[in-house]
Amino acid sequence: MIMKTPNVLSVTYWMYEAVLPCYDISVKECYEGCRQMMGIPPEAQPYLNGHLCDWNHIPLSGGRLEFVVPCGRKGGEPLPHNTPFSLFTGDSLDVLSQFDDGSVDCCVTSPPYFNLRRYGNLQEIGKEETLAEYIQNLVRVFREVKRVIRDDGTCWIVIGDQYSRSLKSAGVLKGNLMQLPDRLAMALVADGWNYRQENIWDKPNRHPDGARCRPSSCTEKILMMTKSSKNYYDIDSVRVPYVTNPRVKKRSDYSTYDHPEIGSNSIGSKLVYPHPDGKNIRNVWRVNVGHYAGSHKATFPPELIEPCIRCSAPRNGIVLDCFSGAASTGVAALNNGRRYVGIDLYEEYNKEAERRLRDVLRGLI
Ligand SMILES: C[S@@+](CC[C@H](N)C(=O)[O-])C[C@H]1O[C@@H](n2cnc3c(N)ncnc32)[C@H](O)[C@@H]1O
Repeated sequence: MIMKTPNVLSVTYWMYEAVLPCYDISVKECYEGCRQMMGIPPEAQPYLNGHLCDWNHIPLSGGRLEFVVPCGRKGGEPLPHNTPFSLFTGDSLDVLSQFDDGSVDCCVTSPPYFNLRRYGNLQEIGKEETLAEYIQNLVRVFREVKRVIRDDGTCWIVIGDQYSRSLKSAGVLKGNLMQLPDRLAMALVADGWNYRQENIWDKPNRHPDGARCRPSSCTEKILMMTKSSKNYYDIDSVRVPYVTNPRVKKRSDYSTYDHPEIGSNSIGSKLVYPHPDGKNIRNVWRVNVGHYAGSHKATFPPELIEPCIRCSAPRNGIVLDCFSGAASTGVAALNNGRRYVGIDLYEEYNKEAERRLRDVLRGLI
């Protein structure tokens, strides 16, 4: 059987998938037939379970066979096609404009801070004069993200709040919270996104911020934005244990039989039972700030966003980060059997990210 895999970034490669075993013809014969039928070009290379393979040594026991054809980016260098990740260097708006509609499953990202970091490039987001311009630039990038993710796709945005440094740039008096996550969320909703959930990242080991006149900050938000009101959400991939002992309840405690927290109910019985794999993840996530040893200073721990990846992209699906940095999203994607596409303005970060992702793959093999 041969299928064209729909969620493949066509600017990166074309992928075709065959499911072995082939019963009465050799793998090579099968390939030849399929290649002609599907119009796979002769330069396509076979990969078995992600590895370039030799026709003469393909086990017939089964596996995942892909035909990969490097086709290159518009006017650019051919892209790496023999790894489960691709890293693009450039302004995310420019790079995204070269991707096909609906070509990735989800996006998990953290935008550059406003007014805090200066990496030097003119196209860098975060160095705008005013907060309004910063939000506007982010909305533009996320509009492209919306086009590029599948119709039922989700974009997760990790973003912390900051204090105003001046009335002129922030529009609020110095020392006031700028309410960045909320401003961004409102602007995105106005631009057509569905705001599905506000998640809180609670950082128990956050360094004190030196505050003497207010409680110290130890949270960021993780905005869950979806392209449509019917979003893909694999609830079973993000179940967590019940906090109190699961209690058998009376059926009348629940309004429907397929309540997400209920694992089973016996027909005719008045009792319903808690789901054996636990309850749906809640929207406060307690995750330590990680220690990343590389040069990037604004990374989040990959564990933080693993639930986002698992519930928003199927296995082998494609996860995008339009502000990739050290590719923490990529680490989480690969560790969870998904592919990764990262974009960052700076080549140095992408080089660092590539080393990191190759290390992850080495650890996985
Ligand atoms: C907060 S960091 C992301 C860190 C990443 N989440 C991680 O954990 O490794 C934001 C990144 O956005 C990048 N950036 C800033 N402006 C950009 C632009 N216009 N296009 C693409 N990347 C940009 C910066 O270079 C920086 O690496």
